[in-house]
Amino acid sequence: MPIIAPSLLSADFLNLQKDCDMLNASEADWYHLDVMDGQFVPNISFGFPVIEKVRKATTKVCDVHLMILEPGNYAEAFQKAGADYLTIHYEACPHLHRNIQQIKSLGMKAGVALNPHTPVHLLSDILQDIDMVLIMSVNPGFGGQQFIPHTLTKIRTLKQMIKERSLSTLIEIDGGVTLDNAPSILAAGADVLVAGNTVFRSADPVATIAALKKL
Ligand code: DX5
Ligand code: ZN
Repeated sequence: MPIIAPSLLSADFLNLQKDCDMLNASEADWYHLDVMDGQFVPNISFGFPVIEKVRKATTKVCDVHLMILEPGNYAEAFQKAGADYLTIHYEACPHLHRNIQQIKSLGMKAGVALNPHTPVHLLSDILQDIDMVLIMSVNPGFGGQQFIPHTLTKIRTLKQMIKERSLSTLIEIDGGVTLDNAPSILAAGADVLVAGNTVFRSADPVATIAALKKL
């Protein structure tokens, strides 16, 4: 069964409590929280005050996706805000190994995210140190974009790398996930599905989450 991680980026920020209550009552496994700095990506989303409040509103896993430069400067603050998983971008980290060690020493699970153009084989020498790889299936920065089909090839290649080394690294797919394309994403080897618009723009978000969970 896939892990379902609805993205709060598509939630109603004036009624976050309502959306948290909905997610808590649903089969959603994780909360996916997208942090953007207006530097690494051309958009600004939300930061610590929102994550702290969301943390208090749920016992589910808080999966924080940092689309920011210099994530090492903020890792401790995200741990204090309540992150369980902290995912940083390969493209933002010249000292990725150090950043990963820092995240793990703070007691969080460490994830590395790849932009659509970044090959999965670049993780070859860090794969054994990380808990999750987030493959971006759209260009990061915005919800509601179209899934890039080449992502499926990247998932298959990464799954093979993980299997060959008998690792338990999770593969998370983020961007443009729908009920239509999710079966092929899972067949390619994904473990975690992020879904923003598909969940929050549907007529019945709880039923949509249940349908994703059943795939
Ligand atoms: C995009 C974010 C995603 C986004 C996904 O940069 O990382 O998590 O919220 O939204 P959808 O599912 O609508 O593509
Ligand atoms: Zn994300």
